[in-house]
Amino acid sequence: EKGGYDHFMLKEIYEQPQAIKDTFRGRMLVKEGIIKMAGIDDNIEKFKNARRIIIIACGTSWHAGLVAEYIFEEFARVPVEVEYASEFRYRNPVVFKDDVVIAISQSGETADTMAAIKLAKKQGAFVFGICNVVGSSISRITDAGAYTHAGPEIGVASTKAFTTQITILTLIALRLAQATGKMADSEFRNYLQELERIPGKVEKALKCNDQAELVAAQYKDAPNALYLGRGYNFPVALEGALKLKEISYIHAEGYPAAEMKHGPIALIDEMMPVFVIAMRKGHYEKVVSNIEEIKARSGKIIGIVTEGDTEVKRLADHIIEIPETLEPLTPILATIPLQLLSYHIALMLDKNVDQPRNLAKSVTVE
Ligand code: F6R
Repeated sequence: EKGGYDHFMLKEIYEQPQAIKDTFRGRMLVKEGIIKMAGIDDNIEKFKNARRIIIIACGTSWHAGLVAEYIFEEFARVPVEVEYASEFRYRNPVVFKDDVVIAISQSGETADTMAAIKLAKKQGAFVFGICNVVGSSISRITDAGAYTHAGPEIGVASTKAFTTQITILTLIALRLAQATGKMADSEFRNYLQELERIPGKVEKALKCNDQAELVAAQYKDAPNALYLGRGYNFPVALEGALKLKEISYIHAEGYPAAEMKHGPIALIDEMMPVFVIAMRKGHYEKVVSNIEEIKARSGKIIGIVTEGDTEVKRLADHIIEIPETLEPLTPILATIPLQLLSYHIALMLDKNVDQPRNLAKSVTVE
């Protein structure tokens, strides 16, 4: 059942190239320059006329929502808010009838997300669901939706659900940008072509496994860790920290790299591993200067970098290279080494990787 892998988590990490392909299947017609998604196409006017998009989710799905915020605003120039379902539902939020709500949930059973959807519907918003589990409760109570088709995710730590959620949200943002004319056709086609290459690039990113294992061995006994990223990869830093916390029980925090100087930099000493996502495209020089600040305080730097990087390599204690892609698509690739790092650390610490303590796969209680 684990297909030769020791754990579901590792199997699911390695399934990502195929899972992403399955998310594309029948939806992305690259040669024709078309994205076809019934749930979107049937409701395209609602999306086109949306005053804003409100994304609601919990945990890792919320991180996917944060990545989508950057993508939707860049591609479709529509304002986006991303909300924890648990906060949204209890806040008496302002919801307009012309808001489009996108609810993201791997399991489709998360209690807080369900309640938030009901609240948004009651206030007249159109609610679109992104679920992985077919026929799940959320897929049934939403007005329309799309499945990620990642296949069953058994490991409690979400991996392929996250990258396929980002994938489908990217498709939706592109489809909307095309419908509203916010993106030139040539650019649209360029994204489709690059998306088609993403499964191959994920495959290549997975080759960092040995390097990830090496780095894991080095830092497995650290009591704390920091994860930093900017722009599209700020949410990936949050996700990296969550993965480490939940399966290795090491305290970790994710931050936008520039927020360092507003507090967290005080934590840095020679005991603190800092995982920094520093893609060549995406505020590279800014991230490099953040790395210099960490180095000046003797923090240990593990750079997640673009293939062929030289500048971060010069400064960092370790680097893990991933293939180059268009900036908005980098989160899908940057996530891979962070998943592998957490996996190896948890394994070395002899933790239950697939079923961490205190956690359940679907959180059906609030
Ligand atoms: C993290 C994790 C949780 C879930 C969260 C939402 O690895 O598994 O944070 O992401 O409970 O679950 P879904 O997406 O099923 O609503």
